[in-house]
Amino acid sequence: MCGIIGYVGKNNSVPYIIDGLKKLEYRGYDSAGISILQEGKIVTVRAVGKVAELEKAALQSRPQGNTGLGHTRWATHGKPSEENSHPHRDCSGELVVVHNGIIENYLTLRDKLTQLGHRFRSETDTEVIAHLIEENLKHTRASNDEDKLIKAVQKTNVQIAGAFAIGVMWARTPGMLVGVKTQSPLVVGLGKKENFLASDIPAFLQHTNKALFLDDGEMVILRTDKVTVLDVNGKEKKVKATKISWDQKTAQKGGYAHFMIKEIYDQPQALEDTLRTARTDFAKLLGTDEKTLRKLRNIHIIACGTAYHAGLVGKYYLEQLAGIPTSVDLASEYKYRVIPPFENTLAIAISQSGETADTIGAIKKAQKLGFKTLAICNVLGSTLTRLCNGTFFTHCGPEISVASTKAFTSQITSLFALAVCLGKANGHISDADFNKYTKELTRLPKDMVQTVKMEYDVRHLTRKIYKAERFIFLGRHVNFPIALEGALKLKEVSYRSAEGFAAGEIKHGPISIIAKGTPVFVLMPADSLFEKMLSACQECGARGAYVVAITTREGEKQAKNVAHKVFVVPSTGELLQPVLNVVPLQFLAYWIAKRLGCDIDQPRNLAKSVTVE
Ligand code: M6R
Repeated sequence: MCGIIGYVGKNNSVPYIIDGLKKLEYRGYDSAGISILQEGKIVTVRAVGKVAELEKAALQSRPQGNTGLGHTRWATHGKPSEENSHPHRDCSGELVVVHNGIIENYLTLRDKLTQLGHRFRSETDTEVIAHLIEENLKHTRASNDEDKLIKAVQKTNVQIAGAFAIGVMWARTPGMLVGVKTQSPLVVGLGKKENFLASDIPAFLQHTNKALFLDDGEMVILRTDKVTVLDVNGKEKKVKATKISWDQKTAQKGGYAHFMIKEIYDQPQALEDTLRTARTDFAKLLGTDEKTLRKLRNIHIIACGTAYHAGLVGKYYLEQLAGIPTSVDLASEYKYRVIPPFENTLAIAISQSGETADTIGAIKKAQKLGFKTLAICNVLGSTLTRLCNGTFFTHCGPEISVASTKAFTSQITSLFALAVCLGKANGHISDADFNKYTKELTRLPKDMVQTVKMEYDVRHLTRKIYKAERFIFLGRHVNFPIALEGALKLKEVSYRSAEGFAAGEIKHGPISIIAKGTPVFVLMPADSLFEKMLSACQECGARGAYVVAITTREGEKQAKNVAHKVFVVPSTGELLQPVLNVVPLQFLAYWIAKRLGCDIDQPRNLAKSVTVE
């Protein structure tokens, strides 16, 4: 939550910072601010609302300077207001701080600092950082102001507890920014005579594709033509730059009205790119060998939200194709349940961002239990990928819309590829099956090209149903998680009440909420469970539901007998079918939200990366 950006270079920093904040807006958007070092003085502009409001305010006061910091906020401590917006300043107004994360000991620090005479202006935890650095500066001796600031920030870094990525700017050190990172993301962009500090790569991707990733506890000092990283002991550390392969076009809307719809259409390419590396050597990836892989007896999948739904699908794959008992936990629950010590266990964390605090906490627990860990992740250099023994990258490019779409289908595809590889390694599937599944995977991007053509029909249907108060989604087996995902997507962007159920469960209670006209979406490809799903349609139809069947060509005729509307999705293998089945539900959520006039890419109360527990 929250996005931070810093610029130091030869140009006016304001347009770089505002533009970077727009790219980071998915991380929080209830207020935003910038501080610019202008002729030896810090000028701050802040505004409640989105970055566009800040931009308007900045256009009026027109700050200018080569060094600056910016922040877009998702409120944790203190309501969204101008006082609570970042950057936060010390008493002198000479030092400002932007922060992403939570300072857990801020109340104790605030009391101490207040007793020492510091005056607080906001309700935030962040403001203590500015005052604490100010206090430390008073007691720090150094031959020059730059060293003094570095030492004071180092001292502050050990006094604060919690999760934080921080950017610091001091009026006495023009052309220099300091950043520290502990458990919140912070990336450095290396440009030509300009350098960037940011919560995420898209913030500077337009200017450079060279990045440095920091480890927890580290500090970075940015100057126009030099970047220095200090390790936890304050020693200079050599860090190799990583070339980012994302092209900046994928980080832009490319003519679409919203990122969400663009990212739905990105899916054929995202699958193609993900599959390019899917035939990987998983043993090597985990720093182990085939023999150890064959010994795997247990898999724990850990994830949140949409990624958790992908994990639920993955369970079917890993159990059926690799024969390995698999559990799936919400990361926030995994951390608190007692887990018996199993030998030969692999924990798989699924996360688009790699920065979800709950998922990171859960994987740390798995590591403490001695499990091998694998991340399925979309962001190179993210905290999760640095923690795990190995990472399988989904190559979707940046996913900006808060509602996850292309990451979800790529995660399921990756899990399928993993299960097929494990099944081959441990002999659970035959060579013939391996070849069959590999063919299905290879064909999947083409099937997806056909699937995204469904937008028009889905859009047309939403005209009829968008005013409904409640929506229901039903599925069985691998399509049950798709019912959950369809409901989550709709809730998230349209604020409508939506629930997903296992079709066999409705008669155990949920059927009572079906009333005349309630739209019920039934995922029913013509597979081994088709007959059962026909019955589900009938049960709902008999209670007055408006039944929409999502099926494959072979099921169309029968589906028409029991549903008011039938959508036909291209067919692939029974297990991979969910990757395609979710697409009409993504369009559905998009179009209902659009017709209701919702803020699709930035729904209320949400943020893309949930970096707090
Ligand atoms: O970055 P992650 O995949 O770890 O994020 C997990 C969830 O917060 C995320 O999937 C969330 O549920 C999405 N907004 C759903 O669209």
